[in-house]
Amino acid sequence: MALNERFSTDDLTLGVIGLGYVGLPLAVEAARAGIRVLGFDVKASVAGIINDGRSHIQDLTDEDVGEQVRAGRMEATTDMGRLSECDAISICVPTPLSKTRDPDVSFILSASEAVANALQPGQLIVLESTTYPGTTREVLLPKLTETGMEPGKDFFLCFSPERVDPGNVTWVTKNTPKVIGGITPACRDAGVACYSRFIDTLVPVSSSEAAELTKILENTFRAVNIGLVNEVALIADRLGVDVWEVIDAAATKPFGFMKFTPGPGLGGHCIPVDPHYLSWKMRTLNYKTRFIELASEINSEMPLFVVGKIREGLNRLGRAVNGSKVLVLGVAYKPDIDDVRESPAVDIIHLLEADGARVSYHDPYVPRLEEDGSVWESVPLTDELLQDMDAAVIVTNHSNVEYERVLSLTPMVVDTRNATRGLGGIPDVSNPGQWIVKGTRKG
Ligand SMILES: NC(=O)c1ccc[n+]([C@@H]2O[C@H](COP(=O)([O-])OP(=O)(O)OC[C@H]3O[C@@H](n4cnc5c(N)ncnc54)[C@H](O)[C@@H]3O)[C@@H](O)[C@H]2O)c1
Repeated sequence: MALNERFSTDDLTLGVIGLGYVGLPLAVEAARAGIRVLGFDVKASVAGIINDGRSHIQDLTDEDVGEQVRAGRMEATTDMGRLSECDAISICVPTPLSKTRDPDVSFILSASEAVANALQPGQLIVLESTTYPGTTREVLLPKLTETGMEPGKDFFLCFSPERVDPGNVTWVTKNTPKVIGGITPACRDAGVACYSRFIDTLVPVSSSEAAELTKILENTFRAVNIGLVNEVALIADRLGVDVWEVIDAAATKPFGFMKFTPGPGLGGHCIPVDPHYLSWKMRTLNYKTRFIELASEINSEMPLFVVGKIREGLNRLGRAVNGSKVLVLGVAYKPDIDDVRESPAVDIIHLLEADGARVSYHDPYVPRLEEDGSVWESVPLTDELLQDMDAAVIVTNHSNVEYERVLSLTPMVVDTRNATRGLGGIPDVSNPGQWIVKGTRKG
């Protein structure tokens, strides 16, 4: 009870390590609730932008950040020594995959070392980064106990996965229920008491492992269902059936069906990455995660399927991919955001260029794209450009692109997102699967 009171007091200082897509919204939410927030990032440029009262991520405006900084509730620093000033610390650092698609927990390791070096009696530490079950206990805890302090007694350690959905204005950090599990019950209770200050609904679970697996279940559920619907798209294409019509029809069932849509492949920092954290962990326990492997295989082959459709459409016009001018519409991994991490657009561009196509792209949110040492710049979507292209491929269905103009001016259009439905596209009767939404037969 005394513990809960401590984390419910007004003069709490929350440290947030990693001020990106996850950490910055969390920091702003806590500051809005009147908690003093000290943000930590290894990048001085990120700390500088925040201290200037500006935001470097799309989900927050300059005003969202500026208001908290000017009120003296939020400050950012690169000085990890200042972690000792905090009552609670949330770790929101990246958890990417290595080149061999194994978990790269190096960011968690360096953050845990910084926390261990500054650990104070009574501090609450919460790992938010998505990771495999066991990370909090096996990676973080040993670093903290090296100090001689004990979890649940001298300090409190939890895992609470972030559920942020970039671009979603309905479900944001504050109103999205948050799962939390502790190394001990006292750790969990401390975490719930602290986070209840600025998150509407906490969902306590029995252990940090249960919280870790919950997050991976959520993202694996999406990856597997997207894999299933992408396979149905491949099946429908071979059957000559319009997959989007079938999905819309199935979605009229009021129970037992959940709508997922096919597309050019998985993107983003989470869905293509997180299930591999679980696969890796299970390999160490001699278990093969079959659904994850199969979904990943299907999803990662979608860019090849899309390029096959572009080849088919150009061929109908008597052209080869080699030498053709192809416009990629949208390179962000999902509509109306600027995030290009793991975007299938990059694979599609690489595959087209390898076949000799002259590729340009247009994305209202991504002026410049840098990947694997290559750099592309978004071109303006003028009538002249559209007329000059041999083909356009809609990879991301941003809502502020005039698809009608694209359909009317470009000779061949492949639509991987069903963005042109009802816009007067010219479905080719030989391909009612409708990936090639415009492209007449030669002769
Ligand atoms: N982006 C999402 O939509 C999302 C959603 C849910 C969960 N997550 C998970 O949250 C975690 C963070 O993701 P993100 O999208 O916010 O990443 P991000 O790359 O946007 O931000 C991470 C920040 O951490 C900083 N950083 C790296 N190492 C650091 C260290 N040792 N000390 C201090 N700062 C450090 C980086 O400079 C960067 O600013 C990941 O595990 C991710 O899987 C992300």
